[in-house]
Amino acid sequence: MSAHTIAVLPGDGIGPEVVAAALAVLDTAAERFGFTVSATEYPMGAAGVAAHGDPFPEVTRQAVRGADAVLLGAVGDPSLDAAPRHLKPETGLLALRAALGVYANLRPVAAHPALAHASPLRPERLAGTDLLIVRELTGGLYYGEPRSNDGEVAVNTLRYSRPEIERVARIAFEAARGRRKKLLSVDKANVLETSQLWRAVVTALAAGYPDVAVEHIYVDYAAMRLVTDPASLDVVLTENMFGDILSDEAAVLAGSLGLLPSASLGAGAGLYEPIHGSAPPLAGRDVANPIGTIGSVAMLLRYSLGQPAAADAIDEAVAHALGTGARTRDIARDGEAVIGTREMAARIAGRIRQRTPAGSAGRA
Ligand code: IPM
Ligand code: MN
Repeated sequence: MSAHTIAVLPGDGIGPEVVAAALAVLDTAAERFGFTVSATEYPMGAAGVAAHGDPFPEVTRQAVRGADAVLLGAVGDPSLDAAPRHLKPETGLLALRAALGVYANLRPVAAHPALAHASPLRPERLAGTDLLIVRELTGGLYYGEPRSNDGEVAVNTLRYSRPEIERVARIAFEAARGRRKKLLSVDKANVLETSQLWRAVVTALAAGYPDVAVEHIYVDYAAMRLVTDPASLDVVLTENMFGDILSDEAAVLAGSLGLLPSASLGAGAGLYEPIHGSAPPLAGRDVANPIGTIGSVAMLLRYSLGQPAAADAIDEAVAHALGTGARTRDIARDGEAVIGTREMAARIAGRIRQRTPAGSAGRA
């Protein structure tokens, strides 16, 4: 039986609840598919500041280094909005991404037919939407030096090197190969030198992937394409800041931010987190949608633990739960019965149990 070790960082706000829900589903999948996962929790974000005065405490830094994968809930707390930069939960998250070297952030977005009502787009526009955003995650404006703000003049630096672009572009090309073989590279090459380099590097790499159809577009037009013709998109590759913005826009296609998972990959352990934030007003009320975190666990099983059958079973169980009317309040129509975070996880786990007799599947 294979044994895996994951570091779990519940974080702030709704983070602990959605993580608990996702771990319940993970336990069920592990039991059914015959592997074990040892999951240990460490503080992160505002919880890290409260426990150790650091949004990415040393104990957490050590733990993620030794883990096979890292599962994160969400970070962010209004009490730290005005805190100095080194104490902000977001700073901790950026340091975590840098420490793990997870340069490629994969954000899949699919429109589930049962949830068409939850999206502001007309159903006929939405039909067939199934795309993957590949966002560069450890470079660009988020990390560029120099950076400063003296109250009169503020500076951030947008810098990309050829190897940084190449490695994330490779991930996108490989992902396109396993999907519908289309790659949309998003830049602002009519204005920015970094984008001109980006386009040149992607164009050069494309020669090695003759089976993948590559299109380059500017980010402003990409923002439009996402909502006017989302079904035409397959893999969307872009730099850090553009990817941050476009992935929230893409989330409305699925119907709720709460549905969307992500995987951040590099040379070592992967980092898995829902794309939503900590949503402080919802915290502790058993109302948050755990599906983004549950989907992140499926990605963790697929990309870091080598358990694709268990990952497929989770994805199927999520689709089944949605298809049979399980609704947290973010995705419910007026008058539809609403269930809580824990109940949503229980239904998904129940489906996995029902389809997979104990210990029968997935043994390698
Ligand atoms: C995301 C978030 C983060 C980002 C914030 C919390 C720093 O918005 O994961 O998309 O901008 O990367
Ligand atoms: Mn974001």
